[in-house]
Amino acid sequence: MLRVAICGGSGYAGAELLRILAAHPKVKITVATSEKSAGKRVTDLFPYLHRYENLVYEPLDREKIISRADLFFMALPHAASQVAVDFFVSQGKKVIDLSADYRLREPRIYEEWYKVPHMFPGTLKKAVYGLPELHRKKIAKASLVANPGCYPTGAIIGLTPAIKNGLIKLNSIVIDSKSGASGAGRQSEVSFSYCEVNEGFKAYSVASHRHTPEIEQELSAVAGKGVRVNFTPHLVPMDRGILTTVYAQLAKSMEGKGIHEIYRTAYGKEPFTRVLEMGKFPNVKNVRGTNLCELGVAVNKRTGTLIVIAAIDNLVKGASGQAVHNMNIMMGFDEKEALNAIALFP
Ligand SMILES: NC(=O)c1ccc[n+]([C@@H]2O[C@H](COP(=O)([O-])OP(=O)(O)OC[C@H]3O[C@@H](n4cnc5c(N)ncnc54)[C@H](OP(=O)(O)O)[C@@H]3O)[C@@H](O)[C@H]2O)c1
Repeated sequence: MLRVAICGGSGYAGAELLRILAAHPKVKITVATSEKSAGKRVTDLFPYLHRYENLVYEPLDREKIISRADLFFMALPHAASQVAVDFFVSQGKKVIDLSADYRLREPRIYEEWYKVPHMFPGTLKKAVYGLPELHRKKIAKASLVANPGCYPTGAIIGLTPAIKNGLIKLNSIVIDSKSGASGAGRQSEVSFSYCEVNEGFKAYSVASHRHTPEIEQELSAVAGKGVRVNFTPHLVPMDRGILTTVYAQLAKSMEGKGIHEIYRTAYGKEPFTRVLEMGKFPNVKNVRGTNLCELGVAVNKRTGTLIVIAAIDNLVKGASGQAVHNMNIMMGFDEKEALNAIALFP
């Protein structure tokens, strides 16, 4: 049995890790941390996680918990994760960090967007960006995986085949995303509370969202040259799910059918990314509670534009499901272990 610790186990991503891992036959959860709820049982916060009725939250005391787990999931806010990740990695443990702390390769860019310095550039160099569709082989050998952000997951998956195959003009990419409110976490601000979100629909962090450099970093690596994108996130009154619509000008005239085939070939063997039939487009409702990324592909012939629509559940493929997928790859388990069983959310 792999002994697993969940640091930040009282948040939305941490609770989702617990829910998914309850179905994993090769994993035993030995530690779940929370500062505010230390001493409370997991079931006091999340009654539906009755499988964990004997698991009690404890503070994240690195020295105390290090010997009790082989792999550490870090589901803390950015900046709070840096020190503990460095400590666990330096002690030879495997770590999957769900925060943004180890996603951006350049410490300077991290500081520019997150307004805190990166204190561990040496450990940062060891991190592998945990998008299996792009980096499966590196993830398999990694000791530290930086799990992707929720918005970047759908956007990068949606754009990669087009960029790899030279189908689009790189300076024309527009990414329009809509997310449910759980994307902001359980301890989020007033602007994400029920009365603020319900019956509303608004853009936020316009031209300044922190996921922008992450999307650009990965798409630039695919393109082999610098890519800049226009990315606008929106908040919609649902609890989970992200629908991303990507627009880009075609580099040359192409039929939708040909592009659809390129996408189907690119993701044909992927266990969790599914390209829908021509003319069909995804709905967040259909991926809710699952680790799927569903894609719809079309060409607007009148404007010479490629349109790709991606739907994910931000807490699963956009966070904890993808983290478990990464764990399965790192440990040599069946990639679908614990992830096939979770269909619709209860
Ligand atoms: N929500 C999403 O859709 C999503 C998607 C992808 C990635 N992520 C990333 O995953 C991480 C967790 O997100 P979340 O949505 O689960 O947030 P959340 O619901 O606010 O949970 C945060 C967790 O971190 C703990 N925590 C906060 N500050 C801490 C500190 N200084 N030291 C130790 N523990 C601390 C909290 O424990 P207490 O009980 O003590 O408050 C809680 O368990 C974030 O970095 C987020 O950006 C989230």
